[in-house]
Amino acid sequence: GAGDAGPNYSIQFKPIARNVLDQVTVPEGYTAEVMFSAGDAVVAGAVAYTGTFLTSAETEKIAGGGHDGMKLFELPGVDPNKGGLLAVNHEAADFKILMSGTYDASTATPEQKKIALSAVGVSVIEIERKNDGKWAVKAGSPYNKRYTGNTVYKVRGPAASVVGETVIGTLNNCSSGMTPWGTYLTCEETRNNYLDPTQPDNGYGWVVEIDPRGELADLPVKRTALGRFDHENSAYLLGGDNSLAFYLGDDSTPGCIYKFVPSGKFDPQNRAANANLLDSGTLYVAKFNADGTGQWLELVQGKNGLVAGATDPGDETQGPKPDTTVNFNTQADVLINTQAAARVAGATLMDRPEWITVAPDKSVYCTLSNNSGRAVTDKANPRTKNMHGHIAKWRETGDAPTALTFTWEVFLLAGDPSLASESLTGNINGDTFSSPDGIHVDPQGRLWVETDMSLPGNSGVEGKNMTDVFGNNGLYNVDPTTKKSQRFLVGPTGCEITGITHTPDLRTFFVNIQHPTGTWPSSVQGNSLPPRSSTIVIRRTDGQPVGA
Ligand code: FEO
Ligand code: CA
Ligand code: CA
Ligand code: CA
Repeated sequence: GAGDAGPNYSIQFKPIARNVLDQVTVPEGYTAEVMFSAGDAVVAGAVAYTGTFLTSAETEKIAGGGHDGMKLFELPGVDPNKGGLLAVNHEAADFKILMSGTYDASTATPEQKKIALSAVGVSVIEIERKNDGKWAVKAGSPYNKRYTGNTVYKVRGPAASVVGETVIGTLNNCSSGMTPWGTYLTCEETRNNYLDPTQPDNGYGWVVEIDPRGELADLPVKRTALGRFDHENSAYLLGGDNSLAFYLGDDSTPGCIYKFVPSGKFDPQNRAANANLLDSGTLYVAKFNADGTGQWLELVQGKNGLVAGATDPGDETQGPKPDTTVNFNTQADVLINTQAAARVAGATLMDRPEWITVAPDKSVYCTLSNNSGRAVTDKANPRTKNMHGHIAKWRETGDAPTALTFTWEVFLLAGDPSLASESLTGNINGDTFSSPDGIHVDPQGRLWVETDMSLPGNSGVEGKNMTDVFGNNGLYNVDPTTKKSQRFLVGPTGCEITGITHTPDLRTFFVNIQHPTGTWPSSVQGNSLPPRSSTIVIRRTDGQPVGA
């Protein structure tokens, strides 16, 4: 496979200029085609949205909205460069295709709630490359499936006794991850069911494991051992001895960076033997010391101050906060109230940890999207009023997933030199950006960054919007060594760019365009439907690997 060549950090394409066009722009010699939009048919027999509002029974079978994190899975017997299963997160509903007016959970009818909840969760679709090189969803595939805000999830791990055996619904499925045994991890970025507040609150804010192939019968499962917070994504580090770490970001303002180390090891020979690996292990939270070292603090009841009557200092990064008393009587208390546990243990509060990615050389990167309210800095979060965000990088001691210490650096400060103030200029070499969110290192060691600025947004300088400085949100390639940034893709009006994944040969990249607000994709699809979140396919017209 492509990974066998090892990291070489080479990248070649003609970078594009920033723009504010209502289209997807890619470099010369590349195509970007829409493959999978909100409202498209998923489950066999589904009726796609074509302009008429559907019933909840119908919307339960079509693509949800807010396409976000996604991963491509191999199917036994299928060339992975020509087909597979794509699991796509639906972070939020694209309400314009579901109902007229504004959704209000406090006044919504039961049918409206069902419709809204059908549009979040996950789609699993079988996709295939046609003879002309174009990719499409394989209609009617038995693998095509929806997991929604209305369907049932098992609950496992140390907090299951409190949360309950099952929970109805997954939602705010932001970004995602996968396991070495080929399951999908969809990450809930909310701790309450804001679409249906009648559901019990501790049922959300978990990592949910799904088997796209449907072989592991016990799934989907909310894995409480990984903690409850505003989960962004998950990325794993696999050791030579098959030990594992799953890195987890908490996208709150501010939030912490966690890792979960299963007690067991990955079994590459027996897929089913890994089915419950995520139920027992240790959850740690990161403390970034000023000298470039770091520690993983155990979030275990009875340790690191996690006892009854613990003092939670509160988030003091924006100024003093009153202390509160929190009771950690059981491990379930620690896992349900993980953010307070992290503060009590002395973790570093970061500027909104978004995606984490593990490079082939075992470096780990995390985007810290922004935190305009920061007043108190530290070495890992060095800017007050951090409008544009930064990227942190660390390496485990001995590259071991089980390490209790690491070394770290601020890899890059986002911003633009035209914003003449120290906290806004950043240090990007080349094409500048703000608000890094998606991040992914591919098997060739090439680092890709996706942005999520609020648009048109406040750049920090009076009279200059984000779009004036950076254009629309985009996808950038950043060299891990020279840190040179080159703009690879610019999205249409109003969208964020997210969900990067690719075939093993790197000839096909899949990217998500979330919440566009203009005339895209109807402008390229030749219809007059409202703007819809969509998965796009990026290829080179000469069929060679992207950027090779
Ligand atoms: Fe759903 Fe933090 O982005
Ligand atoms: Ca305090
Ligand atoms: Ca995100
Ligand atoms: Ca986002």
